Amino acid sequence: RVDYNVPCDKDGHITDDRRIRSTLPTIRYLLKEGAAVVLASHMGRPKGERKLELSLRPAAERLSELLNQPVQFADDCIGSETAAMKKALQPGQVLLLENLRFHKEEEKNDPDFAKALVEGCTAAVNDAFGVSHRAHASVVGVGKLLPMVSGLLLKKEIDFLDGVIENPKPFAAIIGGAKISDKIQVIANLMEKADVIMIGGGMANTFVAAEGYDMGRSLQDKDRFELARNLMKKAKEMGSDIILPVDFMAGDAFSEKANTKVLEAKDFSDPWMALDIGPKTIRLYVETLRRMKSVVWNGPMGVFEMKPFATGTFAIAEAIANLDATTVIGGGESASVVDQMGIEDKFSHVSTGGGASLEMLEGMVLPGVAVLADKE
Ligand code: 3PG
Repeated sequence: RVDYNVPCDKDGHITDDRRIRSTLPTIRYLLKEGAAVVLASHMGRPKGERKLELSLRPAAERLSELLNQPVQFADDCIGSETAAMKKALQPGQVLLLENLRFHKEEEKNDPDFAKALVEGCTAAVNDAFGVSHRAHASVVGVGKLLPMVSGLLLKKEIDFLDGVIENPKPFAAIIGGAKISDKIQVIANLMEKADVIMIGGGMANTFVAAEGYDMGRSLQDKDRFELARNLMKKAKEMGSDIILPVDFMAGDAFSEKANTKVLEAKDFSDPWMALDIGPKTIRLYVETLRRMKSVVWNGPMGVFEMKPFATGTFAIAEAIANLDATTVIGGGESASVVDQMGIEDKFSHVSTGGGASLEMLEGMVLPGVAVLADKE
């Protein structure tokens, strides 16, 4: 099991192959030991439907370039044709299966689906750290049918992130990105460990709006206003500091060509939407970071793919890179920013996991790790 859930542009070209590159040591090791290697992964969230734009075929091509050998591709992850391809696979050969999530049984952890996946296989390896927080058929179900062990990438991630749980203080977490519903709960758990939590990205709008501000057309999750208010209250009681943006870079459209304006929360109105943190917030966050001994960063501060709204994310990346502290980056987007800036080696650890790395930092045991035969 690998996590080849990689970002692609609208023409299906992979824009960041980090997750593919990170699995090369395990694949090369298995090939050297004479294994025939069948790789399975998900891509995006197709919810049981076959979607051409979420095919893993481009990943097979990229992997083939990186391994410098042919990589076969099966159009489905189960079924008779795939079973025949597996059977014909020789030691030293690699076969990548089509997106697991084209079948809804994957996310339901369906035992029959897991059985079909492992048909013809003698052992399983989990090298998909990024999805090990999901109790899905290929992550957990397979481990109940075959001896499943950790791959080299998974092991590296777990060894590092396990250590960070006891990180030196003061400890700050910077949480951004657009997966609001996923991360709001994470903040609740992180509060017990972090001295300061700085919020950015789409999630910040929800917190600011929950305080009673009209955030115009900004992305916000109205169903979680109450939760956001409770979190702020609980943080105060626990003596942990949640810091929210004091200003934003706003656009009048969700577009690179939008008119832009720096706005404070009280100044928003239609059609303005917050698309990045503003200059005062950048200064506040960078200043706060300077006194930290450990920092975890997950999720961009704004729509960094659009130049006018990338400043906050790049400024935070650079500030963290220059700290004399234990620094951990999680989440595909934050990792790709650091990669684009060429500063990856300035961080203690750049994780291939987003949600998975956060859950580990919260102190949770990931279901995909709990099932492994070689877990410590
Ligand atoms: C990720 O990108 O975080 C992993 O591939 C998991 O994807 P998911 O959040 O869709 O389960």
